Amino acid sequence: MSAIEVSNLQRDFQTTIGVFKRKKKTVKAVQGISFDIADGELFGLLGPNGAGKTTSVKMLTTLLIPTGGTARILGLDIIKDADQVRPRIGFIFGGERGLYWRLNATDNLRYFASLYYIDPAVSKKRIPYLLEMVGLKDRADEKVEGYSRGMRQRLHIARALLHDPEVLFLDEPTMGLDPVGARELRQTVRNLQSEKKTILLTTHYMFEADALCQRVAVINKGEIVAMDTPAKIKDTVNDLSVVEIEVFGIPPETFEKIKTLSVVESASVEDRDQRQLLLVHTSKSAEAIPLLIAELQGLKMGKVTAREPTLEDAYVRLVGGE
Ligand SMILES: Nc1ncnc2c1ncn2[C@@H]1O[C@H](COP(=O)(O)OP(=O)(O)OP(=O)(O)O)[C@@H](O)[C@H]1O
Ligand SMILES: [Mg+2]
Repeated sequence: MSAIEVSNLQRDFQTTIGVFKRKKKTVKAVQGISFDIADGELFGLLGPNGAGKTTSVKMLTTLLIPTGGTARILGLDIIKDADQVRPRIGFIFGGERGLYWRLNATDNLRYFASLYYIDPAVSKKRIPYLLEMVGLKDRADEKVEGYSRGMRQRLHIARALLHDPEVLFLDEPTMGLDPVGARELRQTVRNLQSEKKTILLTTHYMFEADALCQRVAVINKGEIVAMDTPAKIKDTVNDLSVVEIEVFGIPPETFEKIKTLSVVESASVEDRDQRQLLLVHTSKSAEAIPLLIAELQGLKMGKVTAREPTLEDAYVRLVGGE
């Protein structure tokens, strides 16, 4: 049995639009997704803003009722058996509040443990153990108000683990963290893996999924567009090479023209201070480079490089360059 089995899960939202809010509109946030997550697996749900990641996690954590399809957690139906699902899962949602800033980490966890009716004899041992696991042992008696965002986020993870759930959902756990905080949090997530927890993590950072997950599903506009190991997903862009050209003030019409060149699969422009970086996906970089340079004739240019594709490039291809 898989720890998580998702079958054709769907969720629509009804919203009103227009000045007088008279017009109704249906948003298809999740449009029939299916996947299985094995016991003890760390699985990533990856996608751009608005892809349907949070909506999916909310359904799987019984916080939101699906409009179609089914899912089972540890063999239990997320709708019919919701009461039995809840004690066996833990979750954190990115940017979450809900810690007591005037209390230290230990007292925060004690408070939540009593809310969850955890036997004090159990939580007495479990709290120091969890604080150690999330790397807060040495700061456990300091007030949370003095914590960095990363420390608070790690305390949220400890809070979600108080009742020793078998399955953990982490919705964008590194959101808003600086690179060091994010790296520490990823280490915490790796530590959880050795605890044999099944973890579903959402992120829109491809490198994060690559660094952590055994498998990932890429979701875009409510649909799964790829599902595999990060390495296999990277293989899908083996044929691709990425040409990067530094330019200064590229006119929109030149950029549009470049996108129509037959050797160009996709192109984008990133702003970098005074200059821009033209990024072109192509399967024939040797042919593409002279053609691109010809198009950019007359413009000031900086470095021209061709590089191997990364997982990020595979992701861009899968989600249609948006
Ligand atoms: N309560 C709601 N009412 C109306 N529309 C909603 C609601 N919640 C989500 N949506 C819509 O559903 C779609 C998916 O949203 P969701 O929050 O699941 O995306 P996400 O992948 O988590 O994005 P992000 O990376 O920005 O967190 C979006 O178009 C969003 O506007
Ligand atoms: Mg979200």
